[in-house]
Amino acid sequence: MNYPVDIMSEVLFTEEQIAKRTKELAQRINEDYKDSPLTVVCTLKGAVFFFTELMKNLKLDCRLEFIKASSYIGNTTMTLGNVTISRSMNFEIQGRDILIVEDIVDTGHTCAKLFDYFKNQKCHSVQICTLLDKKSRRQVEINPKYIGFEIGNQFVIGYGLDYNEAYRNIPYIGILNEKYL
Ligand code: IMP
Repeated sequence: MNYPVDIMSEVLFTEEQIAKRTKELAQRINEDYKDSPLTVVCTLKGAVFFFTELMKNLKLDCRLEFIKASSYIGNTTMTLGNVTISRSMNFEIQGRDILIVEDIVDTGHTCAKLFDYFKNQKCHSVQICTLLDKKSRRQVEINPKYIGFEIGNQFVIGYGLDYNEAYRNIPYIGILNEKYL
């Protein structure tokens, strides 16, 4: 079954635009972390596409890890408030520079929890790299160091971003057509 052809009311960023912007962010990260033991952390599931594109452009001798912030309870979990954090096995945090890779920062609550999590585990530093930033919707103070694109108060899908777990596989980003809400 295919997704509806009119699932997006507007395409915001094409694959080419995303790839170009990701390369620019990777160049900055390459420069900023050339002397540090960087661990790049993919937040599941939404950031997967952005994460792989970013990793392909990093020249650093870095590690890659996965984390999920949700109410789901699985292996290797730690609960902070009402958010459960699940992470990949043997994930060394203490003393490491951590770069959290996000698909989108909206209210900022998820990133705030992740920030606290890594700080509590005594990382050396922690920063955020997000493909999209809905700055106008922020409820807590979170300022990603690396931002792909700032967007308005619109619900977007594609390139890893979902609506009820669907449409992550669309290879570009657009606004969800209201008739499917
Ligand atoms: P926050 O904690 O409010 O910043 O929420 C971040 C999470 O909300 C993201 O990682 C997404 O999973 C989800 N989210 C927020 N806005 C959108 C959107 O426009 N499309 C798809 N997911 C979204």
